[in-house]
Amino acid sequence: MARGLIDGKQARKYAAWVGKSANTEIYNRFILENIRVGKNIKICDLCCGSGVTLELLGNRSGEITGVDASGEMIKICTEKFKNNSRINLVLSPAEKTGLGANYFDYVIIRMGLHHIREKETAMDEILRILRPGGKVVVIDKYYTNKQRYHFWEFLSALARFDISSFDQFVESKERNELSLSAKFCILKREYLPKKHAKQVFMFVLKKLSRKSSSHRADKTRKQKNAGNKRRD
Ligand SMILES: C[S@@+](CC[C@H](N)C(=O)[O-])C[C@H]1O[C@@H](n2cnc3c(N)ncnc32)[C@H](O)[C@@H]1O
Repeated sequence: MARGLIDGKQARKYAAWVGKSANTEIYNRFILENIRVGKNIKICDLCCGSGVTLELLGNRSGEITGVDASGEMIKICTEKFKNNSRINLVLSPAEKTGLGANYFDYVIIRMGLHHIREKETAMDEILRILRPGGKVVVIDKYYTNKQRYHFWEFLSALARFDISSFDQFVESKERNELSLSAKFCILKREYLPKKHAKQVFMFVLKKLSRKSSSHRADKTRKQKNAGNKRRD
């Protein structure tokens, strides 16, 4: 599937396929295990597509907002959920949703991030619309053969994550530098068995408060300085 929007005929084709994908149940389980549902809970499903997650959560949460930049995907959802007043639909890019700040308890972005060109901007937008302490569920994929989106690509967005435990991907120097700008911490991560070069990952991130981010940055800076002194 090409990156960017999925619109027109391609969107209708995607809608007919998505619920039948072998991983649907796995993603649904991960989402249900990691979010709290209830009438006071507000959820944003970013890059909602034809509404597979809206369908899962539409009758469980107080309010759920699906956002997609594809007119056809929003049209499909409008038709599908016309009788569910808890579901709001917004046609807009993930990078600039126009939604209120500090509002949602959860943002879910399922197989959406690799479609977004401006990943860092989208992560900042997620940060803006999440309430303090709010959580993000990211389900996505990368390719280890580097021919398509590679994990490094996600690192531009991951600069917003706490990547302190990504030893297999990042040199310690880079890890420290990226952690300095972290806006999220990783609460949980799961990887599905790798298929050919494709690796699916599922993360739960928590929005860090400004105070805890700067505290962590100070701590890392102190550790770095202590290391430099030891070498001197
Ligand atoms: C692979 S589909 C995933 C849809 C849905 N989350 C699911 O799991 O079935 C990716 C979706 O992201 C949307 N999309 C791509 N770029 C976007 C952007 N910059 N802003 C908002 N939506 C975008 C596409 O139109 C498409 O509906």
